[in-house]
Amino acid sequence: MNYKLAEVNSADDWKDYHFLRQTVLWEAKGRYNYNENHPDEHLKTNHPLLLKLRGRPIGTVRLDEVGHRSGVVRLVSIAPDVQRSGHGRELSSLTEDYARRFGITKLLVNAAPDAVGFYEKMGWKKDLWDESELTGLASDCIQMTKNLR
Ligand SMILES: CC(C)(COP(=O)(O)OP(=O)(O)OC[C@H]1O[C@@H](n2cnc3c(N)ncnc32)[C@H](O)[C@@H]1OP(=O)(O)O)[C@@H](O)C(=O)NCCC(=O)NCCS
Repeated sequence: MNYKLAEVNSADDWKDYHFLRQTVLWEAKGRYNYNENHPDEHLKTNHPLLLKLRGRPIGTVRLDEVGHRSGVVRLVSIAPDVQRSGHGRELSSLTEDYARRFGITKLLVNAAPDAVGFYEKMGWKKDLWDESELTGLASDCIQMTKNLR
């Protein structure tokens, strides 16, 4: 298979993971306070993941186990030069397979307003799951959920 969803472990993978997130989710949105050292990246129940296509890192996602067989999908990014080429769809599908391995049956997301259309195409529905998360960077996000089969 050309795609691989890799757990971020090596120094190179961490570098690529942070670079993509900083570029796509911070700098492209005019934010310059990305923190590579956030402790949430290293919690045992949080899984930083890097999508590689033929070895090239092109996407990121973090899956956080939050109990009740639920997982939060956070900070989804695809490299700017290859967006809208089907890689986000592949990242979704591989993330769902990965989540199932942990017994997760429901995914949750704080979707950026301009990504809601993408999530809807992937089968997600608008669904308020924890209003207290909608602060700071996520203050304008729309909460959505997807049940996994
Ligand atoms: C949102 C994002 C992850 C989607 O990945 P992608 O590789 O561009 O998406 P794909 O090419 O796989 O698109 C899959 C489908 O969703 C649609 N789609 C993709 N982005 C969309 C968007 N922003 N709005 C509406 N539909 C979108 C595509 O047209 C495609 O539909 P089709 O299969 O009917 O043709 C990516 O564009 C990205 O990183 N954007 C910037 C960061 C961001 O907003 N991340 C989400 C934070 S919650």
